[in-house]
Amino acid sequence: MIRVRPAGPGDAAALVALAEEVGREGGRWILAAETWRSVSDERRYLRTVQRHPDAAVFVAEDDGRVVARLSLSRDPHPASRHVADLGLMVAESSRRRGIGRLLLEQALDWARTSDIRKIELHVFPWNEPAIGLYESFGFVREGYRRAHYARAGTYVDAILMAYAVVADDDADASD
Ligand SMILES: CC(C)(COP(=O)(O)OP(=O)(O)OC[C@H]1O[C@@H](n2cnc3c(N)ncnc32)[C@H](O)[C@@H]1OP(=O)(O)O)[C@@H](O)C(=O)NCCC(=O)NCCS
Repeated sequence: MIRVRPAGPGDAAALVALAEEVGREGGRWILAAETWRSVSDERRYLRTVQRHPDAAVFVAEDDGRVVARLSLSRDPHPASRHVADLGLMVAESSRRRGIGRLLLEQALDWARTSDIRKIELHVFPWNEPAIGLYESFGFVREGYRRAHYARAGTYVDAILMAYAVVADDDADASD
């Protein structure tokens, strides 16, 4: 059975293993998988996130085994504090079972209770599964970032995508 819950420090080893596993898929999907945090750094990070209202990490468990992670973090700039950045990965053996979508629903819940109006993310242009998920969920393309990320000794492009948690025409920045 699939269950989504907030991550805790006890998930550190499983989450590092997940990032390494996804990173081993040729580094096609995520940035800097080869330099992912150590288990102790990840544990420290998860402990910080637990206490911090401006960030969240959720995991999906399949019969108790962690198979996916979603991270959110509020933009620190005072003028864009209504925006949060999102990261997502699902273990290869658990894909196409609706887990990515389930975690995005969880992200929306967190955004609504955290006064986040907009969720943004970067995705590599060749990452068709992720673009398929985000577009079917309602994310739209906001921009194309040329040579935006250094990766494997070269600079690669990224698509900037965003989801309006609160409709744009309901915008009053003095809220
Ligand atoms: C992208 C990713 C998170 C999708 O997770 P998932 O749990 O497989 O996604 P879901 O099962 O919730 O898929 C929901 C919808 O997204 C779309 N989608 C998902 N995978 C797809 C694929 N391989 N090709 C085309 N569309 C796809 C479909 O519309 C799908 O609905 P359907 O299965 O009813 O057709 C997963 O493939 C992954 O972790 N990839 C590696 C890491 C990564 O790329 N992270 C994102 C970085 S920006």
